[in-house]
Amino acid sequence: MSQKILDNLSQRATSLQASKIREIAELGMKQDDVLPLWFGEGVWPTSDSIVNAAVESLCRGNHKYQPNNGAINLREQICQYSNQLLGCNLTTQRITITPSGMQGLMLCAQILASPGDKIVTIEPGWPNIVGAFSAAGANIESVSLNPVDGIWQLDTQTIIDKLTPDTKAVIINSPNNPTGWVMNKAQQLEILAHCRAHQIWIVADDVYSRLYRHGASAPSFLSIAQDDDLLISVNSFSKCWSMTGWRLGWIVAPAILEAKLGQLTEFNTSSTAGFVQDAGIVALRDGEQNVSQLLSQLDESYRFCAQQLSTFSRVEFIQPEGAFYCFFKVDGLTDSFAAAKQIMQETKVGLAPGIAFGEKGEGYLRLCYAQPLNVLDNAFQRLAPFLNK
Ligand SMILES: Cc1ncc(COP(=O)(O)O)c(C=O)c1O
Repeated sequence: MSQKILDNLSQRATSLQASKIREIAELGMKQDDVLPLWFGEGVWPTSDSIVNAAVESLCRGNHKYQPNNGAINLREQICQYSNQLLGCNLTTQRITITPSGMQGLMLCAQILASPGDKIVTIEPGWPNIVGAFSAAGANIESVSLNPVDGIWQLDTQTIIDKLTPDTKAVIINSPNNPTGWVMNKAQQLEILAHCRAHQIWIVADDVYSRLYRHGASAPSFLSIAQDDDLLISVNSFSKCWSMTGWRLGWIVAPAILEAKLGQLTEFNTSSTAGFVQDAGIVALRDGEQNVSQLLSQLDESYRFCAQQLSTFSRVEFIQPEGAFYCFFKVDGLTDSFAAAKQIMQETKVGLAPGIAFGEKGEGYLRLCYAQPLNVLDNAFQRLAPFLNK
């Protein structure tokens, strides 16, 4: 009977694949003493000034529905923040507040993709990108990142060849989860020109843009695009303000989409909580010191992990340019999901299996290094017998 109920759901729901990262995490969450390096989440709490802003907002009585596109003062703050950081010229009509980067991606899928539309994405890639667009009925095709001469590379021509005139959108997550690959400005210019010529949407998943190892922000399409280019940038407060549990993000879209994005928000969530949005204002206005602190903690953690990984002859590890993951290949590993389960059982270290990021990720494991050194040291001591096998 229960299978009959499941078979009676929408084709979109039944065709969705479970996240293999979540499957490992759910195994681990049932056990004690597990080191959880599976999700893209830092261990550090949200800063007091952001927490206090939410509390004060609640105490002031900010308990009501909000405008569908978000509170105007947060939209203004996002314009100010982005214009200063990226040298663009955003206006509030271009900003919609979303309850998370994930919901931002879902809105992109809902506003852009009709059933059967061709959507191009990058592999290895975060599985929820494929999930969101699959839920909208799109056909997903991917272009592959490849390790060449010790760096992750994606040839621009390979992407352009894939972006045939029948393509609806290309989703570019840079810095990329899981590899840390970053698309450079010259590549962005070429992709933008091609997409302009063929009326193909670019969805830039910029969630890790501040977690960039070579400057204040990774190269952004927002710095080079015109106001009416077919570009939507998805962003989030989760990663660099340590606000994963708050569920707050934003998208930047052409101003003409403002009303449609408002309508879609109405039918999805009817906006984000007002006190959470007030906390977002403080994060952007006063949070730069917290961001720098996080970046220096991450740098320390990264260096430690890179050094540890270099000691295992079975491990091949390419330096990331951004995000906060070590995505490493283990010689002889052919079933990363089974390996991640075995590692969990034998060592109590929670890692994400490479296969969760697509076929191109098979043979790899992903470790989120947003942890203090003592936790990472403990994790590597536990992992050593497995990685030395
Ligand atoms: C590439 C990428 N995009 C978007 C998100 C969404 O983040 P959130 O929903 O927490 O804002 C994540 C989270 O891990 C991610 O890795």
